[in-house]
Amino acid sequence: MDSGIDWHWARAALDWQLELGADEAIGEAPVDRFALEAAEQAARAQPAAAPQVERGAAPVPMAEPAGPDPVQLAQEAARGAGSLEALRAAMEGFEHCELKRGARNLVFCDGVEGARVMIVGEAPGREEDLQGKPFVGRAGQLLDRMLAAIGLDRASSVYITNVLPWRPPQNRDPRPDEIAMMKPFLARHIALADPDLLVIMGNISCDALLGKRGITRLRGTWAEAEGRPAMPMFHPAYLLRQPAMKRQAWADLLELQAKLKALG
Ligand code: URA
Repeated sequence: MDSGIDWHWARAALDWQLELGADEAIGEAPVDRFALEAAEQAARAQPAAAPQVERGAAPVPMAEPAGPDPVQLAQEAARGAGSLEALRAAMEGFEHCELKRGARNLVFCDGVEGARVMIVGEAPGREEDLQGKPFVGRAGQLLDRMLAAIGLDRASSVYITNVLPWRPPQNRDPRPDEIAMMKPFLARHIALADPDLLVIMGNISCDALLGKRGITRLRGTWAEAEGRPAMPMFHPAYLLRQPAMKRQAWADLLELQAKLKALG
């Protein structure tokens, strides 16, 4: 039967969906994710109901909080990893972050171990989730061009990771509890990779490593994170949306280059 929809029409409709950000078919029935998020927030905000005690009755002990603290479990797992490979395995085996269930791959690192520069991004996007490597989409291509401008590249002089190793659904911002849970792994990752310098890309990474946001104010000034010099920079994804800001990014790259020379 002729539906009246030709190939070109269907292709244009698909492109329009992609433009809107619907880049995956994950179910036939629509899901109202705003309602889900609101319900999750309400559940988190709800204080545990106090037990009803009848007058004269023996007091009922308060219920123990459910399960062990995932941040503590992450700290123990991270502490036990004596090498980058062991850390990767510990993260593969960590079952307490919900993001893992929606992700295709763990995105652990790219670049060379032992590099003097370690870049910390935010979280994997679609391409990174598919390939299991950080910064391989459009933002990653811009990152490669930025690094090349000061003679760096991931094949020989840079090591790259993210605050979160799993893609958040619909590329939403990572939640504070997710950042806190994965922070021990990030700290251990930095200690094991042992770079001279950190480059902190974007607000989420500043939040995780410096404990504050405000990239427009923070960028371009050396800070300290995990005991080493750290340069906050605009995230390449932001630079794709705001090309006028590339001027500041260029100044920050030159600052990074100068610091590497100064450290010898
Ligand atoms: N943005 C990030 O912060 N990290 C990636 O790996 C890809 C995009």
